[in-house]
Amino acid sequence: MHPDWAATRKRAEEELARARTLAELEEVRIRYLGKKGVVTRALAELGRLPPEERPQFGRQANLLRQALEEAVSRRREEIEREEEARRLREERVDVTLPGVPVRRGSLHPLYQVADEVKRIFLGMGFTVAEGPEVEYDWYNFEALNIPRDHPSRDAQESLYITDDILLRTQTSPVQIRVMQSMAPRLPVKVIAPGKVYRRDTVDPTHSFMFHQVEGLLVDRGVTMAHLRGVLEEFARQLFGPRTRVRLRPSYFPFTEPSAEFDTTCFLCGGRGCSTCGSGWLEMAGCGMVHPRVLQVGGYDPEEVTGFAFGMGLDRLTMLKYRITDLRLLFQNDVRFLAQFA
Ligand code: DAH
Repeated sequence: MHPDWAATRKRAEEELARARTLAELEEVRIRYLGKKGVVTRALAELGRLPPEERPQFGRQANLLRQALEEAVSRRREEIEREEEARRLREERVDVTLPGVPVRRGSLHPLYQVADEVKRIFLGMGFTVAEGPEVEYDWYNFEALNIPRDHPSRDAQESLYITDDILLRTQTSPVQIRVMQSMAPRLPVKVIAPGKVYRRDTVDPTHSFMFHQVEGLLVDRGVTMAHLRGVLEEFARQLFGPRTRVRLRPSYFPFTEPSAEFDTTCFLCGGRGCSTCGSGWLEMAGCGMVHPRVLQVGGYDPEEVTGFAFGMGLDRLTMLKYRITDLRLLFQNDVRFLAQFA
């Protein structure tokens, strides 16, 4: 059998041209150049030819094989280029398309205010301390010089878990825990923000859970002037440099003397408005740490003195954002919360 070399080559080249993918190309290659391919089979017949025909036949077969091998690799390059071009076309990204908007959450307004308060005190060298919300009666009352018959110990006011364990009613017990963990080192200079609990009926200005920030500074030679200075600096950073402050005499069992700390209203500047009434805002209870409290904390009241303060964060948040109903802070309604993003 003498194949028609030219026709075979032409047929193969047409098939190669029709191959669109590498897989199709491979099929064509195998059909001609594979182990059972047209060219391979032709070469296998070489031995059966009369000797004088062999050189001519062999040369033709080899030429065809060479030509086809080259044609296959040319076509392979073409297909690879086409596939690459198609991939680039299909995977093209329009970077000018607007993105899919992501709905972002935001800090709760109360925590925004707490963060601001923390930032200011950290700037004055205070560190942040924490204590448990489930607290011993001893830390919450006894150690703070709050006598057995004091009205705030009444189960009407406090949420007791057992006879001597309750939900803390104030952040003041953290004062004791911090002093006990630090004594006799000086200075003690901490703030303690956190949740407190009281047996209150929920209404626009009351809740059974609210937030306080406690402050405590103990060192040698601390006076009420330091207390006033620290609170004044705090108020000016929070409400602006023209804020004025005052201390009014008051009573707390764990401070002596005790005071209420007021600032001029940041809305009216102290002239008086519907929010503040008199021009003043009550910001915190405060005073000089009672000697007995220092003693319980592990410090010698003959050697050191200290001041403390405790302020409510919820009312501050309400004032700042002019929120008129405390309950909004705790309902987790996104329509409300999203306004503070
Ligand atoms: N613990 C008090 C309360 O809940 C607030 C307070 C008053 C804290 C005076 C203090 C302080 O540290 O010195 O009403």
